[in-house]
Amino acid sequence: MKIGIIGAGNIGASLVGKLAAAGHQVKVANSKGPETLRELADATGAQAVHKQDAVKDVDAIILSIPFLSYADHLASLFADVPADVTVIDTSNYYPFRDGTLDGLDNGTPESVWVSQQIGRPVIKAWNAVLAATLAERGKPAGAAGRIALPVAGDDAKAKAVAMQLVDDTGFDALDAGSLADSWRQQPGTPAYCTELTLDELNSALAAADKKRAPENREALITQFMARYDELTHDDTIEMNRAGTA
Ligand SMILES: NC(=O)c1ccc[n+]([C@@H]2O[C@H](COP(=O)([O-])OP(=O)(O)OC[C@H]3O[C@@H](n4cnc5c(N)ncnc54)[C@H](OP(=O)(O)O)[C@@H]3O)[C@@H](O)[C@H]2O)c1
Repeated sequence: MKIGIIGAGNIGASLVGKLAAAGHQVKVANSKGPETLRELADATGAQAVHKQDAVKDVDAIILSIPFLSYADHLASLFADVPADVTVIDTSNYYPFRDGTLDGLDNGTPESVWVSQQIGRPVIKAWNAVLAATLAERGKPAGAAGRIALPVAGDDAKAKAVAMQLVDDTGFDALDAGSLADSWRQQPGTPAYCTELTLDELNSALAAADKKRAPENREALITQFMARYDELTHDDTIEMNRAGTA
């Protein structure tokens, strides 16, 4: 598959490496320009491009950028992208980092907001996996204890594409319903960055509490900030599980 990835940070760069290794033709862009992505391109075989080129002649586009970046008029990038190109959003909203954004604090699911910003439907995937989990804990399909990730969206074909790509990165993909349902995989929910298997993830999505999720998110951020220097990967997962149970 031809894939354009916008964002080459913790999540985007991992996706570049994993999807290129899975045999996909990957283009990658950031805000600073392709010359700053040479090392990543050389290491993975991906092509470093300007973001305008990352969305051209591809089957799928992955957006892996902070919420604040949607203020950069990203909608114009999509004007000529055909409707059958799958667009996947990995983002999460953290007011302490992103500021308070109109529309998000009234309960609009984050990826619905992203979809409104860019003027087209998106599939939400890879948002509920810690960067370290994505980088280090993927397993081949069928392996015991394989971690599952939720994939939400409205278009069945686009969701199937996203689910296949999630599988290609080393994780079981679980159909988590519509984009309107995608608050169930947002920060502060039991499905968010808790490293669950398929069955466990199914239960976690069902147990999500829309009112509590932002409260849990803020409480967890306070706890993470207080212990930032000493936390291991496993500590983080344990805190996420305990803080959303
Ligand atoms: N970190 C995690 O554990 C994690 C887990 C799941 C989901 N997420 C979510 O996934 C998204 C990306 O997270 P991250 O941790 O990978 O972020 P990050 O490390 O800060 O990287 C962000 C990337 O986005 C690029 N970018 C920013 N604005 C852009 C623009 N206007 N046009 C093109 N590229 C732009 C940056 O490029 P420059 O450096 O050139 O500006 C950078 O490559 C966020 O929404 C985050 O909440 C993060």
